[in-house]
Amino acid sequence: MRGAALVTEVERQTSAVEEAEVTRELFDFVSKGLMVQAVAVAARLGIADLLTEGAKTAEELARETGAHPPTLYRLLRALTGVGIVAQDDDLRFSLAPLGAALRSGPESARERTRFFGEPYVWDAWGHLEHSVMTGTPAFRDAHGVGFFEFFAENPEAEATFHAFMTRQSELQVPLILAAYDFSEARKIVDVGGGHGSLLAAVLRANPGATGVLYDLAEVVENATHVRAPDLAARCETVAGSFFETVPDGGDCYLLKLVIHDWDDQRAVEILRNIRAAIADEGRLLLLEAVMPAGNDYHHAKFMDLNMLVLTDGGRERTEDEFRELFRAAGFALSRTVATASPLSIVEAVPA
Ligand SMILES: C[S@@+](CC[C@H](N)C(=O)[O-])C[C@H]1O[C@@H](n2cnc3c(N)ncnc32)[C@H](O)[C@@H]1O
Repeated sequence: MRGAALVTEVERQTSAVEEAEVTRELFDFVSKGLMVQAVAVAARLGIADLLTEGAKTAEELARETGAHPPTLYRLLRALTGVGIVAQDDDLRFSLAPLGAALRSGPESARERTRFFGEPYVWDAWGHLEHSVMTGTPAFRDAHGVGFFEFFAENPEAEATFHAFMTRQSELQVPLILAAYDFSEARKIVDVGGGHGSLLAAVLRANPGATGVLYDLAEVVENATHVRAPDLAARCETVAGSFFETVPDGGDCYLLKLVIHDWDDQRAVEILRNIRAAIADEGRLLLLEAVMPAGNDYHHAKFMDLNMLVLTDGGRERTEDEFRELFRAAGFALSRTVATASPLSIVEAVPA
């Protein structure tokens, strides 16, 4: 009897230890989530660039960034614990491997990190519960206007968003070009093409094609990528709303990370406007994350929540859901081409 009681007590203690470990694990998970804000501040201050030449103290970094020295030290001490910087015995900080990814440059994670730490994005994520309870956008609940409308009054926010989009395109475009043959395209229309980094790269890789960059007026105004001297003669910019009209006559229409911003009804409106504009033998290419079956961790599931929070009804979709959107807009899904980036190319032709 006493033996059985001992076994029960050992089991009880073991399970209490396991529960405490799981609690600690969850606690760490939540704390590290909040550290995103600390990493974003380091990204905004350009700490990684300032450490490129070698280790510096918090006082030296504070002089260069205008930060409050003892508080910058506290930030850097916390960032040491999550592998962004390392600290030596003389209290000097240097870049750790994760921090090196925040240096400015073509492979940089700086713009993305800044964007997700921006107060206007962070505030919207703070309203996630509103979305979960109502199915309506957290961003509108937090800011009173939609995500893209917000930019009209907040040019600095727009600049951080498009810097993030452009950097992301620069990382993804080589992988898109490696996966898809654009050589037969004659006139490529990039709808909601932002500042034009995708279109510029596709045109450079396909010298026989001309291009049209289409986006809202305040966005195409800053589309420097397609105004480079080597492209200006074969690429025009057109301002307008894809809910009203889309430039016509193209035989290749690109929509990169646009359809995921909208609910099904708005997405079909955009696709119908493209259907009215596209040449009969044209191809429509959506560059999107395709939601896989199953509930294992996948980038698309994070992005899906991000769309829920930021946009008016946006979501990530499965291949079948894209097929249905195409059908409703007069297109037929012809194939889905995976790329080495998180995006696939979902190709459709006029039905
Ligand atoms: C998520 S961003 C994608 C930008 C770009 N395609 C990329 O991947 O980098 C969505 C784009 O849609 C544009 N957009 C939003 N509403 C629009 C509208 N009504 N008409 C045209 N473009 C619009 C935004 O300005 C933005 O450039």
